[in-house]
Amino acid sequence: MKNSKNILEINNLKIYFKTFEGISKAVDNISFVLKEKETLGLVGESGCGKTVTNLAIMKLLNPKATILSGEILYQDKNILEIEEEDFKKVRGKEIGMIFQEPMSSFDPLYTIGEQMYEVCKTHLKLSKTESRDKGIDMMRRVGIPEPEKRYEQYPHEMSGGMLQRAMIALNLLTNPRILIADEPTTALDVTVQAQVLNLMKSIQEEFGNSIIFITHDLGVISEMADRVHVMYAGKLVEKGTTEEIFKEPKHPYTKGLMESKIRREYKSKTLPYIPGTVPSPQHFPDGCRFNPRCSFVRNICKEEEPHEINIGNDHLVSCWLYVNGGNKLEDN
Ligand SMILES: Nc1ncnc2c1ncn2[C@@H]1O[C@H](COP(=O)(O)OP(=O)(O)O)[C@@H](O)[C@H]1O
Ligand SMILES: [Mg+2]
Repeated sequence: MKNSKNILEINNLKIYFKTFEGISKAVDNISFVLKEKETLGLVGESGCGKTVTNLAIMKLLNPKATILSGEILYQDKNILEIEEEDFKKVRGKEIGMIFQEPMSSFDPLYTIGEQMYEVCKTHLKLSKTESRDKGIDMMRRVGIPEPEKRYEQYPHEMSGGMLQRAMIALNLLTNPRILIADEPTTALDVTVQAQVLNLMKSIQEEFGNSIIFITHDLGVISEMADRVHVMYAGKLVEKGTTEEIFKEPKHPYTKGLMESKIRREYKSKTLPYIPGTVPSPQHFPDGCRFNPRCSFVRNICKEEEPHEINIGNDHLVSCWLYVNGGNKLEDN
């Protein structure tokens, strides 16, 4: 994986929203790459900008959003500059998406089969019979029992877990090179969640797609991802391989997420390890945005934003503790 090529490259992406309460800096100057055949985990508490980032890649941002700067390179083209008409050939074909809420991917008025036919017709130019064969085969491969029967059903006739599988099947029809999975199992119960995660892993082995896996759940990330990027308040604060991030978390926010996870597992009744909440994006603090919640906070953290430091092993962290060995912290 280490030497594989980049399939997606995001540079200096900045997305703001104009709201009643002021400018919301939802995604603020983030850069990362997705490599071929890898699963990249994007993790962070709710409201950190994960979904907005993913919607920008899909060119599905709300019209209220303004992209202030940045580029999203896919096959040497900047997605942000591709016309909607042309991007329709990419979205749902080369880049697929799986959401938390499967009902939002399906139209309640059409059967699963009709919706699969629509995808096969538009992107693969298949006939109705060919689409049916392909759709049923794909449903079988994602573990849907009696796929012939399911093919004729409407979305509301299926359970949440089954519909989630159907959405995955729908997205795999075109064998997309990139799959974006945004909290794909959050709404499912634990057993079904494990099944869907296993399913996604085996699909990747079979089809070799790249996956951006978005979640607030570190446990899920450790199972799924090859590399992990930690997002906090519109910024990527730490990037590394899954092994590195779990063995050597560096950013106090990442450490806090780890600690919260351990406490949850032991069903500890004490408060979560990270005090406070994610600040609202209209009122991010100066300096490091994590500073009001950080137990290592010093003056410089409130004044200046830390830049990204490479601490080796492709491990990057944005925190003053690691700038020049932390010596910026000494004089205050
Ligand atoms: N349509 C919108 N209008 C205004 N603000 C928005 C809109 N969509 C998202 N945001 C803001 O962007 C920030 C990031 O949201 P989101 O990407 O959904 O977070 P996450 O997926 O990490 O939970 C949030 O503070 C949210 O309020
Ligand atoms: Mg989200």
